[in-house]
Amino acid sequence: MADNKPTITIDGQVLAYEPGQTVIQVAHEAGFDVPHYCYHPGLSIAGNCRICMVEVDGWPKPQVSCKLQPSPGMVVHTQSALAKSARAGTMEMLLVNHPLDCPICDQAGECHLQDYSYQLGQGEASSTTAKTKLPKNVAFGEKIVYDAERCIKCTLCVRFCEEITQTNELAMSGRGDHEIVIMTSKGEFDTAYSMNIIDLCPVGALTSRDFRFKSRLWFMDFTESLCTGCARGCNVVTGGRDGAMLRMEPRANAEVNQWWLCDEGRLDYAHVNGADRIASPRIKTADGVWVQATVDDAITAAAVALREAGGDVLLDGGCTLEEMLLARDLAKVMGGKARYAAATGGGDKFLRVDERGANAKGAEGLGLARATKAAAAAVVIVERDAHVPAALRDGAAPVVVFATDAASVPASARVVFPHGSWAERDGLLVNTDGRIQVINRNPAVGPDNIPATADVLEEILGELDPAYDWRGRGGLHAALRSESAFAKAQFPAMQSAGVGVGA
Ligand code: SF4
Ligand code: SF4
Ligand code: FES
Repeated sequence: MADNKPTITIDGQVLAYEPGQTVIQVAHEAGFDVPHYCYHPGLSIAGNCRICMVEVDGWPKPQVSCKLQPSPGMVVHTQSALAKSARAGTMEMLLVNHPLDCPICDQAGECHLQDYSYQLGQGEASSTTAKTKLPKNVAFGEKIVYDAERCIKCTLCVRFCEEITQTNELAMSGRGDHEIVIMTSKGEFDTAYSMNIIDLCPVGALTSRDFRFKSRLWFMDFTESLCTGCARGCNVVTGGRDGAMLRMEPRANAEVNQWWLCDEGRLDYAHVNGADRIASPRIKTADGVWVQATVDDAITAAAVALREAGGDVLLDGGCTLEEMLLARDLAKVMGGKARYAAATGGGDKFLRVDERGANAKGAEGLGLARATKAAAAAVVIVERDAHVPAALRDGAAPVVVFATDAASVPASARVVFPHGSWAERDGLLVNTDGRIQVINRNPAVGPDNIPATADVLEEILGELDPAYDWRGRGGLHAALRSESAFAKAQFPAMQSAGVGVGA
C-alpha cells in the first residue's frame, strides 16, 4: 500500500485509491482511456450503457467499471480480449438503431459514439432488421433540439435536471428500443442552465439551436478562455471561424464552474459578431469627418488630443488587469484618475453573480473607484454597452475612445481605436472569489489585425511621458506584483485553471 492507501492494479500499474472511488475514476486519474457514455464525474452513477466494461482477475464476466468499487489487490485489465469484445458487443447493440447520419450531424468530430465505433466497431452489422423510427427535431424549449433516433438512453440529460438544477423537466419514457427522453408534464424546458445537457450528451441527440449547421468542427479554431458575462469567470472554450464567434462551451474547473455554464453567458456573444464592429483606428478631421488611420498616426493624434484635454479615464469593468493598470497610469500622467463601470443584477443561487463586471474585483484591487454617474473623462474604453451605457460614456465627453463597436462612440470623440472583444484579447481577470484567471485571444474571432488595447495604451503613455519605459506583459505583471493587493499573487500561465489572489 502506498501511503497506507489501498491499491489496485490496472493494466499492470499499481494505483492507490480513495474510499468511494470507482474503478473508472481510478483509471481515468491515472490516464487510462476507459470509454464511457453514461458516466460523468459530476452526476450520480447510472451504469446503464455498458461501454466501460473491463476484465477483473477471478471474475468470470466483464465488469461495469463506472459502478465497480475497488477492493484491495484487485487486478483490472482494460485492454484484454474479454474487455474489448464486451465493449464491441455493446457498440453493436447501440448501433442497431442509430441512424448513419454523421455527415449532417453537428456532433460529428466530437461524438463518443463515432470515436468508439472507430476503435471498437465492426465493418458489418449483424442485424438485418429495419431501424426503429423515433421522433426527430423535437424542441426541448427554445434552445435545444432532440433527436430520439440518435439517443443512446444514457440518461445524463435527465440526471442533470434532477441533480444539478433540480428542475426535473426531463424523464425517460417507453421501453426497449422505443425508450426516449420526454419533457415532463411541465411541458417546457427553459431553465437558466438548460444548455449544459447539450455538452453532456455523448452523441448528437441534443443539439444547440444557436449552433446547429453553422460549421463543421474541423474548420473552427478553439481557444481556452473565460466567460465575461458576470464576475464568476466560468472557464470556457471559445470556437470561431472566419472572424465570427460560433459557440462557447464549458471547460471544467472544480474551483469555479465545475463543468457548467449558464445559458445567458453561453449565448452572450452577439456583440462579438456585430455588424458595427470597429476594425481599424479612426481620426476625426477638423471638418468633423472620420478617416481611417494607421495605428501609429492614431497614437500620435491621441497623444495630441490628450495633452490638450487631460483628466480621467473611464473603463469597462471587463477590461483586463493589465489594461486597468495602464489606464490608471495614463490617468495619472494626465493629472486625473481611472474609474471603472460595470452593470449589476441577474445573479442566482448557482453560478451567476450580481456583479457583471468580469474584473470588478481586479479594479478594486488596483484602487479604482466605481463610476455610478456621468463625470468628465478624457479616455473611455468600452466593450459592453451594459457596462458603460450612453449616459456614462456620452456624459464623460471623451476625446479618445477605445470601443468594440461604432454605436458606442460618443460624438465628442476625436480619435477612436478598435477594442477587441473579450474573445480577442489576452490578459488577467480577477473573479468574484478573488481568483486570478486568464482570457485568451481566439485567432479566428474578430476583425483581423486589431491592435491590442494594452499595447496602444503603452504607446500613448510613451508619447505623453518621455520617461516611460515599455513594459510588455512581463513588465506589467511585475508592476502588478508591486501592488499590495497582488503582492503575493502567482499569475497563472496564460492557459491554466487560475490561482487565488495571495495564493
Ligand atoms: S439525449 Fe443524449 S444525454 Fe439524453 S439520454 Fe439521450 S444520449 Fe443521453
Ligand atoms: S455564470 Fe457568469 S461567467 Fe458563468 S457562464 Fe454565466 S454569465 Fe458567464
Ligand atoms: S459508462 Fe459505465 S455503464 Fe455507462
